[in-house]
Amino acid sequence: HPELNPALLPLDWLVGTWESDVPGKGVFPTITPFRYTETLHFSHVGQPILNFTFNAFHVESKMPLHRECGFIRMQPETNKVAFIIAQNSGLVEIEEGELKGQQLNLQTHALARISFAKEPHVKQISRLFQLRPDGKLEQTVSMATDNQSMMQHLHITYCRSA
Ligand code: HEM
Repeated sequence: HPELNPALLPLDWLVGTWESDVPGKGVFPTITPFRYTETLHFSHVGQPILNFTFNAFHVESKMPLHRECGFIRMQPETNKVAFIIAQNSGLVEIEEGELKGQQLNLQTHALARISFAKEPHVKQISRLFQLRPDGKLEQTVSMATDNQSMMQHLHITYCRSA
């Protein structure tokens, strides 16, 4: 295994595999609340880039649901972080934000979708990742769509998996 590139040391707390400890909660004003499980994997090959996959599943049937993958980069000499994301729903997205300690706040910087993406269309996404003092990772996602202003969609906590 290559060493983590020094440019990514501020994000070393993310690297590895994370599994939801209890099911995450999904909400939005226009949908029926739901629960889901999710596995996150952050890895690297020695480049100043993290690779990630986020795979969500149905709690009971364990069927795959939402899936995202991409890359994470940091602007050298700054705390600026960029996520380059592809989602299985047909969305591609750049999110950018600031790293403060072990808290990462991201907002959509650019967004595009396949021509036949399901409606309503997402207009803006914001997320917060934070490593809690108890060692759990937490992700909160809010979004705005054609019909709704920015509202929470997801909240989930993860434990490091063995
Ligand atoms: C619904 C976007 C992640 C499960 C929706 C809707 C949008 C959306 C636009 C439709 C809302 C409406 O009808 O007004 C996103 C985005 C995500 C994301 C941008 C990531 C950044 C997830 C994840 C799950 C999930 C991780 C986990 C399983 C659902 C479910 C619904 C839904 C079950 C309601 C049923 C449906 O309309 O398909 N999401 N979602 N989403 N999302 Fe997400």
